[in-house]
Amino acid sequence: MDIEFVRSRFIKHFDGKTGNIYASPGRINLIGEHTDYNGGFVFPGAVDKGIMAEMRPNGTESTIRAYSIDLKDRVDFDFHDGQGPRASWARYIYGITLEMEKLGVPVKGFNIAFAGDVPLGAGMSSSAAMESCFACGLNDLFGDNKVSKWDMVLAGQATEHNYCGVNCGIMDQFASVFGQAGKLMRLDCRSREFEYFPFDPKGYKLVLLNSCVKHELAGSPYNDRRNSCENVVKHIAAKHPEGTFETLRDCTWEQLEEVRAEVGEEDYKRAHFVLGEKDRVLAVCDALVAGDYETVGKKMYETHEGLSKEYEVSCEELDFLNDIAKECGVTGSRIMGGGFGGCTINLVKDEMYEPFIKTACQKYYEKYGKAPKVYDVVISDGSRKIC
Ligand code: GLA
Repeated sequence: MDIEFVRSRFIKHFDGKTGNIYASPGRINLIGEHTDYNGGFVFPGAVDKGIMAEMRPNGTESTIRAYSIDLKDRVDFDFHDGQGPRASWARYIYGITLEMEKLGVPVKGFNIAFAGDVPLGAGMSSSAAMESCFACGLNDLFGDNKVSKWDMVLAGQATEHNYCGVNCGIMDQFASVFGQAGKLMRLDCRSREFEYFPFDPKGYKLVLLNSCVKHELAGSPYNDRRNSCENVVKHIAAKHPEGTFETLRDCTWEQLEEVRAEVGEEDYKRAHFVLGEKDRVLAVCDALVAGDYETVGKKMYETHEGLSKEYEVSCEELDFLNDIAKECGVTGSRIMGGGFGGCTINLVKDEMYEPFIKTACQKYYEKYGKAPKVYDVVISDGSRKIC
C-alpha cells in the first residue's frame, strides 16, 4: 500500500499537518475454521494486504474526525456521546477507541484517514485489520505502547461483539497483530499458547480464489452457528455434572453422541464438524512437520466437505470452485474464513498452478459471467508503526 497516497489524503482532508502512519494486515487460515470460538486450534498467517491509517491527536477532548479514503466518506463524532456514528466503517473506530479506553489508554480527540487493499467481504478479515491498525495507533499515540499485543487482540474482538454485531472468535485479530513474514501460527484458542511455523512448501503455492460473492458476517447465520455449538456444550455439561465443559474443545465424540437426540440434527451436525476440525488441525501440523503436503491437502478437502455439508456455511459458487480444484488435481482446496461467500484457499503444485488458474477462471466465467479474483498468498508481518 502506498504511504504517500494515504498521507496526501490526510493532509488534504484535515489541517495540512501530518501524523503517524500505522498498518495492519488481513489474514489467511490454512486450516481450523470455526474452531476459535470453540476453544480449538487455528492455523492462520498475516498477508501482504491490509489497512493503513494516518492518525494525529487534534487537540479536542473527544472528537474524532475520520475519513475513509476508499469510500470517500467523512464522519465526525464525539466518542463520549453514548451512541457513536452510524456508518459501519466508522463504528470500528468508535468501538476500538472505547475498548482501548477501557484498557486504561487516556484517548483524546484525533484525526484519522485510512485506506485498504485487503478486499472487502473476501473472508480475509478486513475488519480485524482495521481494528488492529487503529488499536496500534491509539496505543502509540495515547498509551505509551503499554497495552500488550494480546489486549489489543481482545479489544478488536470486543469491538466486533459490542459495536458491530459479530460474535466472532479471536483468530483474525490474533493473526493481524501477531503475524510474521514467512510464518504461519498454530494457536490454541483455549490456552492462547501459540507457535510460529515457517511455511515455505517447496514445489507448492498457496493461492486464493475470490468467488466475489460478498460475505457479510454481521447479522448473518455466523452467530447462529456459534449458538448451536454452545447449545450442545450446555447439554453435555448437564449430563456430566462431574466435569468442566466450557466449549466443544472439552467434549468427546461419545459425549456428542449421547446428546444427539436432545439437541436435534442441526446442532449435532455443527458440533460434529467442529470436533472433526479440531483433529484435522493437529493432523495438518504433524503432516507439515513431516513435509507431507498430500496429507495437508487431503485434510483441506475434508474441511471443505464439512463446512459445506455439516456446518453449512458454503454457497454454490464456493462449492463449484472446490469441484474445479478437485477435477484439476489440485492438492488441497477449501472455503477460507467464516464462509457465506469470499475465497477458497488452494494448495497447488507449482506445475499445476497455471492450468488450474486458467481452467478455474474460464469455467467460473462460463457459469457465473464473472471471473474469480486470484490472490497469490505472501505471508507477511503483523500490525506495526510505519513512520
Ligand atoms: C470469521 C471470524 C473468526 C473465525 C472465522 C471462522 O473470520 O471472525 O473468529 O470464527 O470466521 O473460522
